[in-house]
Amino acid sequence: METILTGVRVNEEPTIGNFLGAYAPMINLSREHSEDRINFFVPDLHSFTTPIDHSKLYEQTIKGIKYYLAAGLDVNNPNIHIYRQSRIPAHAELCWILDCFTPFGEASRMTQFKEKGAEHPDAVTVGLFNYPILMAADILLYDAKYVPLGEDQFQHLELARNIAIRMNNKFGQELFTLPASEKEQVKFMHLEKGLRIRSLTEPNKKMSKSSENERSKILLCDDPKHAAKKIMSATTDSEGVIRFDMVNQPGISNLLTMESLLTNRDIQDVISDWAGQTSYGDLKRKVADTVMHFLADFQERVKNISNSDVEAILERGEQYANTAANKKLRQVQKAIGLYK
Ligand code: TYM
Repeated sequence: METILTGVRVNEEPTIGNFLGAYAPMINLSREHSEDRINFFVPDLHSFTTPIDHSKLYEQTIKGIKYYLAAGLDVNNPNIHIYRQSRIPAHAELCWILDCFTPFGEASRMTQFKEKGAEHPDAVTVGLFNYPILMAADILLYDAKYVPLGEDQFQHLELARNIAIRMNNKFGQELFTLPASEKEQVKFMHLEKGLRIRSLTEPNKKMSKSSENERSKILLCDDPKHAAKKIMSATTDSEGVIRFDMVNQPGISNLLTMESLLTNRDIQDVISDWAGQTSYGDLKRKVADTVMHFLADFQERVKNISNSDVEAILERGEQYANTAANKKLRQVQKAIGLYK
C-alpha cells in the first residue's frame, strides 16, 4: 500500500491554479488508486509564514476542508484521511529534528523563500525560512511516496528527498520512505511536466493566490460571471493564430491548458480543435464559459457541505493521523537516541 499525500494552504482563498495543480490530480489519483492510502491535509501551520488576518484562520481551514470534499473526495473510502496539520503535534516535533539535519546553505537556496521574502521584506521570519522543512516533516511522517504538487513546489520535494537520504544513510535505510523523484511524480500524475497555471495578466508568471492584482487570478470563491470576465480580458499576444506555445504564446497556451484540464480532455485534442483558428475572442468565450460552469457547480457543492460533516470527517482523520504520525515519530526518536 503506497501513501499519496498532499496539502493546500488556507492563508488566502485558493485559485483555480491550486485546484488544477493539486486538488484535481489528488482526486483523480484517489479514484485510480482507491486501494492505496490517500492523505489530504490542510497545512494550517504553514498558513501564517507570511502575514495573514488571524481572525479568519479557523474558518478558512474549515472552508479548505469543504473544498477538498467538494472537489470530489470519496469520504466513504476508509483509505482516505483528511486532517489539520496543527492537530498532529508530531509534525512540529519532526520538523525540529529534521532542522538539525538540514544544512543552512541548502535551505537558503529555496527560491520560494527568496521570492516571498522579497514580497514581504518587513516580515521575513524564521518560520518562512523553515517552511520547506516542516513540509518535509509533513511528507516523511507518513512515508508518502507520491506527492501531487504544482511545478513551483518540486524544489521543496527535492529538499525532503535529500533530508530523507541523509538521515537514512546515517540511521538506517528503513527510517524514511524516499518520496519519488520529480520525474516519477509527474509521470504518476499522467503529466509530461509539472503543472503551472499562468497569471491571466502576466502569463509568464504563475497564477498566485497572493497576487494583489485581482484580475490576474481566478479564485475558487469568485462570482462565476465575474470570473468569466477576467478570462475575457486575459492577456494574450499579437501572433493572431491559436497555437500551443508556452514560450511565445503563454497566454493562449494557458487558456488551452485550463480548457483541457477543466473538461477532462486530452490537451492534444483541445489543441487540434483550435489549430489554425484566428479568433482569440472565440477561444476566450469558450474558456470563460467552461470556467463559469466549473465555479458554479463547485460552489454549489461547497454550500451543501455542513460544518458538522466536516467535524466528523476531521475527527476520524485526525485520530488516524495521530496514530500513524506518533508511530513514525517514535521510530525517529529511537534512531537518533532519544529513546531506547
Ligand atoms: P499552496 O497552498 O501554496 O499550494 C497548493 C498547491 O497548489 C499548487 N499551485 C499551482 N499549481 C499549478 N499552477 C499554479 N499556478 C499553482 N499555484 C499553486 C502548488 O504547487 C501546491 O501543490 N507547500 C505547499 C503546501 C504543503 C504541502 C505539504 C504540500 C505544506 N506541506 C506537504 C504537499 C505535501 C503549497 O505550496 O501550498
